[in-house]
Amino acid sequence: EHLPALLCALPKAELHIHIEGSLEPELIFELAQRNGVALPYASVEALRAAYAFTDLQSFLDIYYAGASVLLHEADFFDMAWAYFQRAHADNVVRAEVFFDPQTHTERGIPFEVVIQGLHRACERARTELGLSCDLILCFLRHLSEDSAMATLDEALPWQHLFIGVGLDSSEQGHPPAKFARVFARCRALGLHLVAHAGEEGPPAYVREALDVLKVERIDHGVRSIEDPALMQRLATEGVTLTVCPLSNLKLGVVSTLAVHPLPMLLAAGVKVTLHSDDPAYFGGYMNANWLATFEALPTLGAAEAITLARDSLKASWVSEAQKMRWL
Ligand code: HPA
Ligand code: ZN
Repeated sequence: EHLPALLCALPKAELHIHIEGSLEPELIFELAQRNGVALPYASVEALRAAYAFTDLQSFLDIYYAGASVLLHEADFFDMAWAYFQRAHADNVVRAEVFFDPQTHTERGIPFEVVIQGLHRACERARTELGLSCDLILCFLRHLSEDSAMATLDEALPWQHLFIGVGLDSSEQGHPPAKFARVFARCRALGLHLVAHAGEEGPPAYVREALDVLKVERIDHGVRSIEDPALMQRLATEGVTLTVCPLSNLKLGVVSTLAVHPLPMLLAAGVKVTLHSDDPAYFGGYMNANWLATFEALPTLGAAEAITLARDSLKASWVSEAQKMRWL
């Protein structure tokens, strides 16, 4: 069986990774000790055992708690550098990395501490690993649009260090249109735009992200399969959905990988790419997602793998010249 080796060897772009979701329990404990932060878990094993999620919110609660050990620039650097080394080992050649500044600024950590630590890790990944990488600032949708606007104001002196903005956190009850003004401003600033939609929220949120926020890609978007007209539109317009199978499994978006809508999306002509979302919490980085998905879905083979990998590079926000070199 050559398929697993092919999945691992293919050059891929990681377009849906929350850097705070790459914080492994071992590093959480190491940073807690280094920073004198008390954790409500006795051991790495006890913390990992708490990773039994029933839905998005039960995950987010523990994900934000884990991020509380991040205090200094070196902490953000160490987290991101650990991720880049793992991504490189999985033959990720391009990474567009989400970070959640409000998770940190709300705790009194200055924005510049967060972005400088992450940026230094990007620089090292480029020079030492040859990994093409950039940062995407995500707004937390459970907070107000005013808070997002204030975060954008804080970020503007550092605009040269991130290429786009996204929208994440609790989806239900926080439709994309809540962030219409801040996304319009980001668009005018020339930033790339993306949003989580149709993970737990309805297909209408996917439409709204496209129509109101004018995003270029949709994160997750798997609930689009409930709306045939939307599926047709995604296929016609060539909108890419950044799908995260192990995340969908662990958060109960699908009951098993065997019933994941990926084959239906592909059959409908919708552009899909595969990513890890929050690999430290969901049981694996890029290759683990690819291996588990292809193992569970035997209708997918080498041809689909090659298409998914190429489409991940095509949907990335690198120059056309760089794409030509990869494709
Ligand atoms: N969905 C929404 N918000 C998130 C996620 C996710 O999968 N991961 C980290 N923040
Ligand atoms: Zn996500």
